[in-house]
Formats: sequence, structure tokens, C-alpha cells
Amino acid sequence: MEFDRRRLFGMGGGAVLVGGFVALDNLLGNKIVPASRSLAVDALSPAPFSVRMPVPRELRPVSRAGGVDRYHLAVRQGTDELLPGVRTAVLGYDGQYVGPTIRARVGRPVEVTLTNELDQPANAHLHGGHTSSASDGFPMDLLDPGASRVLHYPNRQRGTTLWYHDHSHGTEAELVYRGMHGFYILDDDEEADLRLPDGPYDVPVMLTDAHFDATGALIYSPQDVPNRNTILVNGRPQPYYPVAARKYRFRVLNASNMRMFDLSLGGRPMTQIASDGGLLPEPLVRNDIALDPAERADIVIDFAEYPIGSRVILNDAVAGPVLRFDVTGHAPDHSRVPDRLRGLPPIATPTVAREFVLSTNPLPTINGKAFDPDRVDLTIRRGTTEVWRIVNRAADNRDETHDFHIHLVQFRVLDRDGKPPLPGENGLKDTVTVPPDSSVRVVPTFTDFLGKYVYHCHMLEHSAYGMMGRMDIVP
Ligand code: C2O
Ligand code: CU
Ligand code: CU
Repeated sequence: MEFDRRRLFGMGGGAVLVGGFVALDNLLGNKIVPASRSLAVDALSPAPFSVRMPVPRELRPVSRAGGVDRYHLAVRQGTDELLPGVRTAVLGYDGQYVGPTIRARVGRPVEVTLTNELDQPANAHLHGGHTSSASDGFPMDLLDPGASRVLHYPNRQRGTTLWYHDHSHGTEAELVYRGMHGFYILDDDEEADLRLPDGPYDVPVMLTDAHFDATGALIYSPQDVPNRNTILVNGRPQPYYPVAARKYRFRVLNASNMRMFDLSLGGRPMTQIASDGGLLPEPLVRNDIALDPAERADIVIDFAEYPIGSRVILNDAVAGPVLRFDVTGHAPDHSRVPDRLRGLPPIATPTVAREFVLSTNPLPTINGKAFDPDRVDLTIRRGTTEVWRIVNRAADNRDETHDFHIHLVQFRVLDRDGKPPLPGENGLKDTVTVPPDSSVRVVPTFTDFLGKYVYHCHMLEHSAYGMMGRMDIVP
């Protein structure tokens, strides 16, 4: 299939259709405006910390018969009060900007009956999930308007924070931006024994960015990345969140298309306990945590270290304050963060080496090729462990960071230009940052499932325009 990338620049509800290369040039000059503490805010944005951060509701199964949790989920247009007093049109799972959370358990399969009530094709991909090709949301595996399909999630992997989002060919960037994302939390009995903070003290936190017009409508255009300056936390701008003086686990997800977050607590340390693929071997005390699109970090903050009445601000290095915790009272705390969390599976010896050169010059490509869903870029034998070197050369890019994601697997990060991985990269990962003029080597093992999957840059305005490849796993 010949995929016309220029045609896409005409999409997006009123986006100006300009000549392909002009538009592309703007698209590629898409670095986030650096270091300003007073980013232009959208007209209707409220004063900081005037709305409360909601916790996304959990989806109730329609059945638990036969050891399988069955859910119904519909993609539809809806409205959400993203800005106070304004109903903003969104496209979302169950019509919500942050879709309902699916709470699954290791060893208990989940079946989601997904219905598309939009007037355009869409689908769902479980990011970080170890699922069959038929349920993985391959970019051409779309639900037409009105169609339903059952997605099978076996949950035979370690407990971790996953998320689901649209993966429709060429339109995923717009659909995800407009709200097609939600959490899928995989609980694990082995984790429960550690007595980490749980229940109401285990809180998913989704970070996104948005650009609203003067009426509060979401503006989408691939060229508009630098104007997405309203940071939303679980779909609310700069919210506050009341907490008790005890430990909390926050499952932080960067669900934005293009923005890199670098989070800190004003010099106070945070304890990272998990990354994309689940618990780290041991807790890691960090002053700041960088998250590229699609990356997750579970952090524990102990508000017992702060007097009642304290206001603790989670800051981003570029956007400034994103969330304020208000320490409002006491609560018993029997949770703990043990010195050892969970050992990692041994790394098998790789028998195949591959290299992936990411470029946006002149168009988004991997190894010089734009994504073609009908072209098989890699054929991988089931049972193989490989080593992949992902390269971002300055000459091929314009000082842009890329963000490499592989479907199906949780991999290990071997090294960065021969040096050790970054802090927090010693666990299992499914997405890694690839800063300008650097390379990273990762080690995926392809264990059981066969069929077609993709790997891509998770900067969605890159993947939507071609920075993606197809891999087929064969017997
Ligand atoms: Cu978040 Cu191809 O995935
Ligand atoms: Cu994915
Ligand atoms: Cu990229």
C-alpha cells in the first residue's frame, strides 16, 4: 500500500492544508520551546492549582466467569471538563479523555470487547503488553465505524503499569492527542507480598499536553507541537491533589505525543520502584525523573516527611509546576519500600545483531525507509534473543530526541554508546529515549507469539509520518 504522508497534513479538523514540504519543515522544527517558566497559557486555563486531580475510574467487568475478566469498551466522541466550566469535545475510550482504568491480575486473562462508535477507523493497542498479533492493534488492523472486536490479553507477564491507546495507521497521533488513552494496571501477587502502598494510595498519573482555542476546543495539527503548552494531569490543568502524611505510589505515565518530561520535587528525593516492565531490582532514590512519551515510572513519595499543611510541588524542568500535593491530614501507614524489590530474569545471549538509524531528514524514516504496513522489515525467529542498536545521528536529525518502542517484548538496556544505561534503565523497558547524537543498545527476547508487530519512535508525530517498521515473528 502506498501511504501518502503529505495527504495527512490536510487532516485534523480545519488544519490548514499547505504544501507537503513546507508543512513538514514546520513539523520537524518541533522541539519543545525550552526553559521558559512562563509559557504562553491558553486563554481559558485556570489559575494554577485551582482544580483537583481526578483519579480515572476503574472499569467494571461485565463478567468474571471461567477465570476471565470480560470488559466492554467503546471508542466514541464525548465531552470532558478539561478546563473548569468548559465542555471540550474529545475522542476517547468510553468518550473520556482519560479512558477508564482496567485493573488486571497476572495469570487471569482479560477480554475486552471494543466497539468503534466514531465515524472513522480506530483500534486499541496495549502498550507494553505481551499479546498475540491479532490483539496487538497492528496499524492496519482497524475497526471500521460500528464494528466490534474482542481483544485478548493473556496477562502472562510481570505485574506493571501498562496503557492502551489508538494505533490507527497515520491517524494515531491525532486520535491519541484527542483522548484515546487509558491505564491498564497489571497487579501481581509477588508484588502484593512486598506491602508497597496500595488501594487508595496507589494512584495512576497521566501526563499529557494540549493546545486549546479561545472556546476551549482542542487544536490539533502536526505542526502545532510547540503550542501544546497546557499540561494536563489526568486530564486537568495544573491540579492539586490532597494526600495524607504517609507513603503513596504514583504510577506516572507520559502519554503526550511529543513532550519530554523531567520531573522533580523541588530538591526532595523521590523513590522510583518500577519502570515500563515492572519493579526494579531495588528502589532507586532520584532527584529528577525524565520520561519520554510512553515511558512509565512508579514513584513512592512519603508525605510523612512533610508537616501537615505542606504543599509539595511536582515540577517539570521546562513546563514548571505540573501538580501540587497538599498534605492535609494523617492516615495509618503499614506499607513499606523494601531494600530488594524483584530480581530480573537472566539475559540470554543474543545471536542476532541489528541496527536502526532514525532520521527525520528529509522525512521520518528508520534505516531510510518510511513505514509500509505491507513490507516486512525484520523476520525474527521465535525463541531468539537479539541485540538492537538504535542510532540518532545529528546529521540525520535537527537536534531531536527520538523515543524507541518495540511491541510484544519487555527488553533490557545494554549500554549507551558503550557506557552504562541511565538511572532507572536497569529494569525491564519497552520504550527508551534516544537523545541527539547518541546510540543505545537493547536486548529483546522473542519467546512465544508469532505474527506481525511493529517497532517505532513513540514521538507520535514521527511514527504517524513514517518512523515505524514491521517485524514478523516466525517459527
Ligand atoms: Cu504505545 Cu506502538 O505503541
Ligand atoms: Cu506499544
Ligand atoms: Cu522520533
